Amino acid sequence: MTVNFIGAGPGAADLLTLRGRNIIATCPVCLYAGSLVPEEILAHCPKEATIINTASMDLDAIIAECSKAHAAGQDVARLHSGDLSVWSAMGEQMRRLRDLGIPVSVTPGVPSFAAAAAALGTELTLPGLAQSVVLTRTPGRASSMPEGESLTNFAATGATLAIHLSIGNLDAVISDLSPAYGKDCPVAVVYRASWPDERIIRATLGTLKDAMDNGISRTALILVGPALAGEGFTESCLYSTDYDRRYRPQSADSPWSSWSHNDD
Ligand SMILES: C[S@@+](CC[C@H](N)C(=O)[O-])C[C@H]1O[C@@H](n2cnc3c(N)ncnc32)[C@H](O)[C@@H]1O
Repeated sequence: MTVNFIGAGPGAADLLTLRGRNIIATCPVCLYAGSLVPEEILAHCPKEATIINTASMDLDAIIAECSKAHAAGQDVARLHSGDLSVWSAMGEQMRRLRDLGIPVSVTPGVPSFAAAAAALGTELTLPGLAQSVVLTRTPGRASSMPEGESLTNFAATGATLAIHLSIGNLDAVISDLSPAYGKDCPVAVVYRASWPDERIIRATLGTLKDAMDNGISRTALILVGPALAGEGFTESCLYSTDYDRRYRPQSADSPWSSWSHNDD
């Protein structure tokens, strides 16, 4: 018996991995975070499966369901939105399950920042503009930020910021980032990326407040940084005609000429 943590993706039911779908189809018990996991994904559960929405449950109750399934020898599919590596609460569940000797597995999912970038049709790391993406958030009611992880500190890097769980802190986001990025820095807010009611707002740090739609109060990502403009960047070396590289040596003297694929 295993509790299988599965990243259910950002919203669209077909942004689930094949591995995730196959595991769901074999598990007689499915626990899903109902606030963000689309119900269509539950159609992959076996017909007779026990399906539980954990949106209103506390950690003790969730672990109790897993223990019950463990005692009955039933595998569990544990679904969280996006990917499990960020803001999934997988860590605390896993620690309890390991203490109880219950085996776990992890299947990644499409994270919401990737779905938001896809909705924008934007690469977040454009040569000469940004080569790092910071996945971060601002403090919330239930979570403070570790010292050092402030927006002003991240702003000093000039990287592309993907700010989660913060649409309610928009004023603070704008005022913390404006000194380093400047009022003209491009910003995009993507609401419910990949869901049917997805919405995109493009603005600058200076115009965002006025451009915002009052209907957007949760499940949105704020992306900030010069790469959001999608222009003014250099081309990468990767596909440049004269760049000597493993798969396209430029001369017989190239160190890559004698390289064989078997060396890798
Ligand atoms: C609890 S976190 C979950 C993050 C998730 N594990 C991931 O991989 O993206 C919820 C936050 O992620 C962001 N988010 C999740 N799904 C989203 C979507 N479809 N569109 C935009 N933002 C989303 C929002 O910032 C939301 O407040």
